[in-house]
Amino acid sequence: MPTSLFTPVIAGSLSLKNRIVMAPLTRSRSKQPGDIPWELNATYYRQRATAGLIIAEATQISPQGKGYAYTPGIYSDEQIEGWRKVTSAVHEEGGLIVLQLWHVGRVSHRDLQPGHQLPVAPSAIKIEGNAFTEDGFKPYETPRALELSEIPIIIDHYRSAAINALKAGFDGIEVHAANGYLLDQFLRDGSNLRADAYGGSIENRARFLFEVLAAVSEAIGPDKVGLRLSPTNPFNDMTDSDPQTHFAYVIEQLNRFNLAYLHIVERMIPVEEDHSTFDFDVLRQHFKGVYIANGGYTLASANESIAAKRCDLVAFGKPFIANPDLVARFKINAPLNEPDFDTFYGGGEKGYTDYPALK
Ligand code: PHB
Repeated sequence: MPTSLFTPVIAGSLSLKNRIVMAPLTRSRSKQPGDIPWELNATYYRQRATAGLIIAEATQISPQGKGYAYTPGIYSDEQIEGWRKVTSAVHEEGGLIVLQLWHVGRVSHRDLQPGHQLPVAPSAIKIEGNAFTEDGFKPYETPRALELSEIPIIIDHYRSAAINALKAGFDGIEVHAANGYLLDQFLRDGSNLRADAYGGSIENRARFLFEVLAAVSEAIGPDKVGLRLSPTNPFNDMTDSDPQTHFAYVIEQLNRFNLAYLHIVERMIPVEEDHSTFDFDVLRQHFKGVYIANGGYTLASANESIAAKRCDLVAFGKPFIANPDLVARFKINAPLNEPDFDTFYGGGEKGYTDYPALK
């Protein structure tokens, strides 16, 4: 039997029953006030616990880390209690779940920030588009560039968030350094114009990420820490002058951390339609640990990539929104439910916990 999505695998301290990962998905359904996970979220994750690993949705490490209405946090006691309902539900079903730790940086709005302050970023560069606030969509604003003295404070927030995640029963954490949020804003040169130790060369731009990884690894053990990167994703106005070289450096350096896994957003479109010249195989070959691929995979393309050793596991996003029993469906190559985009963000059970499983 060739290695497939159904072959068990070990990633750091995690022993997975299959290689089908539920990607982190922002659904904006935490309990208000306080951005607290609750029973509705526990039901949603319980339904999906047959995944080899669930990466729970991006979760702000501090009030400043928030960029969308109704996303959950992991800095208050109430949030830890709320998340415990989620992790207990998943563990009761025999699943594994890690929490994605998030600071959005400039992808926010005063209305979502503590004290109605401006969002923060490596540099004062505004992005196009609108923030999702409790009063509807509002144009993004020009963020404030972080002072050097604020960086250790944010690193501390990552450290506390990782400790809180374990208190809440999570099996580990994933550092979100993808998709144009704070750590990615430091990494890529289109969003980082700093002239201090955190800007300029890729060595400097990656410094913040490595300091965060060192802090959370020291706090909970590197075998419980994963990392998500998206070298080419233009989402949130992201650009980089030479992603192939810059991310080769990042991945080379990652090897010294012995992380549980590296999770890469390779594209936002179906694999078959991807004509990008970026070579993810090179990144994969440079990385010595477990590699999770994400982006537009199907059952067939995922199995093909795993068999060819281009990745070890595959994370599925939209298919998991619409198919709580995605694993069972993949097992028999059953048809999939289609996701309803209108219910992705906010609301209640509709489009969240009411997608049908197979009979
Ligand atoms: C989103 O809410 O659109 C979103 C959140 C986190 C991501 C990507 C997209 O990493």
